[in-house]
Amino acid sequence: MAVLKLCFAGFGNVGRAFCGLLADKRAEPLGICGREILVTGVATRSKGTMIDAAGLDLAELLLMIDRFGRFDPAHVSYRGCGVTGMIEKCGADVFIELTTLSIKDAEPATGYIESAFRHGMHVITANKGPEARYFSRLSKKAAEAGKQYLFESAVMDGAPVFNMARECLHGDRVWKIRGILNGTSNFVLDQLEKNISLEDAILGAQKMGIAEADPSMDIDGWDGAAKICALANVIMGANVTPDMARVDSIRGVTALDIRDAGEKGLRIKFVCQAEERDGAMDISVTPQRLPAGDILARVNGSSAAVTMHARLAGEITIMQHDPGILQTAYGVYSDLITLLKRLG
Ligand SMILES: NC(=O)c1ccc[n+]([C@@H]2O[C@H](COP(=O)([O-])OP(=O)(O)OC[C@H]3O[C@@H](n4cnc5c(N)ncnc54)[C@H](OP(=O)(O)O)[C@@H]3O)[C@@H](O)[C@H]2O)c1
Repeated sequence: MAVLKLCFAGFGNVGRAFCGLLADKRAEPLGICGREILVTGVATRSKGTMIDAAGLDLAELLLMIDRFGRFDPAHVSYRGCGVTGMIEKCGADVFIELTTLSIKDAEPATGYIESAFRHGMHVITANKGPEARYFSRLSKKAAEAGKQYLFESAVMDGAPVFNMARECLHGDRVWKIRGILNGTSNFVLDQLEKNISLEDAILGAQKMGIAEADPSMDIDGWDGAAKICALANVIMGANVTPDMARVDSIRGVTALDIRDAGEKGLRIKFVCQAEERDGAMDISVTPQRLPAGDILARVNGSSAAVTMHARLAGEITIMQHDPGILQTAYGVYSDLITLLKRLG
């Protein structure tokens, strides 16, 4: 059976969930799309690097992290080389980029992705930073290298947002995208409607594991700005970055605003929007009062939704209900299947 070799940068929540999914799927009789999948390298910032050209044991990698919180420096496959060294040495066909998001500069992800293309690898990433800042540059580098660059889970996890727009709207043009794209802030707004304070709502989101220790990127709109920029760049052919967006925090939404909106049959939602106007791209992430008939007003809890306004197909909405880590891992897995199909 033909073999496809993968390597990972980052082995946090998504990396480990994807690894678990891969281990399950490998048990299928014909492998994945008739290929045997081997993981030949995994590197993180502080847990060490593991390389084995014959394939690492995924269950063993997961066990080491569970038990010791890092890879075992005494293991025969342990290396001290980091991501760049791993890319050079592990002989993989596909680089799976799952490092921490940086909205400010999309690093180290962008540098790693460029290095992977230089070393003849296809790239799959769950990181929205590169698509929000450097999509056109990276897709050009992918084309020059003759490699695939896939990122379905970067926005709305496993929901097929990029794939739907790119594979199903042939001959059409999306001119506006609106969405509720950040589950944490949507959950917090729901809690405010229940008379819970902003601080308690954030604490609740942290306890549920849907908010970071520092929730400011979500609450202040920068995560949403990165997502809407990624959508605009990929689907609308824009060339925007999050700092070009008009971004308003939901910290300014008061109990009085929520009550007043409720009395008028409206809901306050944190809306991310990209719209083409007179040849320019307008990007915003703002709390808005939406009527009950607006489909985005019906997004509850940590769910998400995006509406694409296309010239011919009209309005198409994709809604995702309470996503979890399995859905993100599935997004990465679905990119792997897309890649295998394209390789033939
Ligand atoms: N979690 C989700 O639900 C979700 C959903 C969609 C997309 N994403 C995206 O998926 C990516 C991974 O998310 P996650 O939840 O798995 O994050 P995470 O749990 O914080 O893990 C991040 C991983 O990246 C590694 N890393 C960070 N900086 C690095 C560097 N300079 N060099 C090498 N490795 C580095 C970390 O290594 P150490 O552990 O050694 O520090 C860690 O293994 C992020 O870009 C995120 O935005 C996540």
